[in-house]
Amino acid sequence: MSTKHPKDEVFEHDFDGIQEYDNDLPGWWKKLFYGTIVFAVLYLLHFHVFGTGDLQRTEYMKEIDPNYTEPMVEVSGGVFNSYTSPFLAKEENLTPRVRAELDKVLNAPFDEQMYRAMSKATPEQLEKLKAIFPELYTNFESGVMTQPMAPMAGSSSTIPSTITEPLTEAGLIADGKKTFEVHCFSCHGMAGEGGIGPNLTDEYWIHGNTMQDVLRVIYKGVPAKGMIAWEKTLSQEQIENVSSYVLVTLAGSNAPNGKAPQGDKVE
Ligand code: HEC
Repeated sequence: MSTKHPKDEVFEHDFDGIQEYDNDLPGWWKKLFYGTIVFAVLYLLHFHVFGTGDLQRTEYMKEIDPNYTEPMVEVSGGVFNSYTSPFLAKEENLTPRVRAELDKVLNAPFDEQMYRAMSKATPEQLEKLKAIFPELYTNFESGVMTQPMAPMAGSSSTIPSTITEPLTEAGLIADGKKTFEVHCFSCHGMAGEGGIGPNLTDEYWIHGNTMQDVLRVIYKGVPAKGMIAWEKTLSQEQIENVSSYVLVTLAGSNAPNGKAPQGDKVE
């Protein structure tokens, strides 16, 4: 018998000669356990009964917007069942900043909303929109919109690069070539001859052939037509270099087996 636990006693039952001790739990363990019960009661009162503490969600909303106030909706279900809940106040529940962004979109002119819808539509949806709003679709397709599109929340219509002439340094062009051969060849061909994307070696351009035109099309893409926006993937240097490569090396090189011209002839 253990001398360490003088109070331990052997239970009376015996199973195949095996007996067990009635080991009492240590005092520190019990204190911790009772402590959790007291903590739980205080926690419940603080956060859920008196509402003196902010729950995680409210805390988060306040962090992103210091002016946030929790809208509460009374849910009535009889004397003992009525309660208030922030989750039922749907739109009021937005932070003022998100609210303002949403208002901007909702109050935008009809045309602008349609362009936005077209830029996000699947090919089938786009076909339907085209049938219903042929004029808007023509504007959308040509990129000439009657009203300038307001930038969506978090994005901007301006591009960071302001250079107006292609870079000509050999090292930068070589870097642009490298980027092209990793990210662009799959649609534009290894020599820029075109494929899914247009031929970049002829004199025809859909979006223009100035440095800013090319930078913009690479930064922002043409999502409706399958040209990816590269602003999230490539750095400013990479975009400037690959744009320069397109304009200095590819443009006018008339690659063999080039895709038929698209867009307008530009000198
Ligand atoms: C997934 C396919 C795809 C990839 C990858 C792609 N493009 Fe494009 N690109 C297109 C399509 C499609 C168009 C035509 C857009 C249109 O019709 O308005 C286009 C258009 C362009 C244009 C405008 C051409 C014109 O005639 O005005 C340039 C410049 C261009 N791409 C450069 C690039 C560069 C540089 C890369 C790599 C960083 C790249 N593209 C990667 C599909 C792609």
